[in-house]
Amino acid sequence: MNANQLQVYLEEKRGVIELALADLLDRGEGIPSRLREAMAYSLLGGGKRIRPIIALCACRAAGGLEAPALCAACALEMIHCYSLIHDDLPAMDDDDLRRGRPSLHRAFDEGTAILAGDALLTLAFEVVARDRSLSAARAREIIAELSAAAGDRGMVGGQQADLDAEGGEISREELARIHSRKTGALITAAAVTGAIAGGGEKELVGMMRAYGGEIGLAFQIKDDLLDVEGNEKALGKAVGQDRRGGKATYPAVWGIEESREELKRAVVRAEAALEGLGEEAEPLRMIARFIARRES
Ligand code: IPE
Ligand code: IPE
Ligand code: MG
Ligand code: MG
Ligand code: MG
Repeated sequence: MNANQLQVYLEEKRGVIELALADLLDRGEGIPSRLREAMAYSLLGGGKRIRPIIALCACRAAGGLEAPALCAACALEMIHCYSLIHDDLPAMDDDDLRRGRPSLHRAFDEGTAILAGDALLTLAFEVVARDRSLSAARAREIIAELSAAAGDRGMVGGQQADLDAEGGEISREELARIHSRKTGALITAAAVTGAIAGGGEKELVGMMRAYGGEIGLAFQIKDDLLDVEGNEKALGKAVGQDRRGGKATYPAVWGIEESREELKRAVVRAEAALEGLGEEAEPLRMIARFIARRES
């Protein structure tokens, strides 16, 4: 698969995921219209959809059809969207632009943004719990993975550590720990839950955990680099925000050149984690390389 074919492949998967997300949001009466509109604004308002795509690819690598992974894929994107909404709030990163549009608290208001985030987080678990294409045992395992990745030992813990590190000095090891939690945990959960949905054996799930950890770290290193050398229009979010906010980032702690080198090494480690797998893991390999060269 070359770079062009990958673009087509990602576009096609994005289409599948976006249809499923729109469907899951369309739940009829009983939801205050402002809340419903706010949830749709964020969930259906663009984004690369890389976490759900990873879940679908991991399901394939496990030998499964993609269908049973679709609910986990949608749940991952809901959790991710909630994390972006809260991350942009004035009490956190205070960002006014997201995915090329005003961030949710700017387009609506802070209270609505907090609640839309809460609603997307909880809906994620409802979606997996109610899915009929998964056995109860697999659904339970997926919910356990998602909640552990999203919570205090995972993404939320990483976000707290990110706030705690603002304006201070930290070691390379501490920085890697922050990034592995705030971003790596959910990306790891994407690879792991996809494999579980596809009926992957323990060994494959272990490989996906190792792969996910490396691409998750790589993803945030690249995000940090793009904040320094990226383009606001392509990114759909303001650049230079990390420096302004005194954030602990790879460019700040390692310098640009060394960050780029470490990014490459993480991609190599991610590919090494897939050793022994064949063609079925090719999309996962392509995604690892895509993460390092993406411009948005
Ligand atoms: C941005 O994530 C936040 C991070 C965890 C680095 P993405 O770069 O995946 O954002 P979208 O979903 O494509 O907008
Ligand atoms: C966000 O990291 C990690 C999340 C869990 C949302 P950043 O704060 O660097 O993400 P951006 O740059 O705002 O997208
Ligand atoms: Mg942040
Ligand atoms: Mg941010
Ligand atoms: Mg960032």
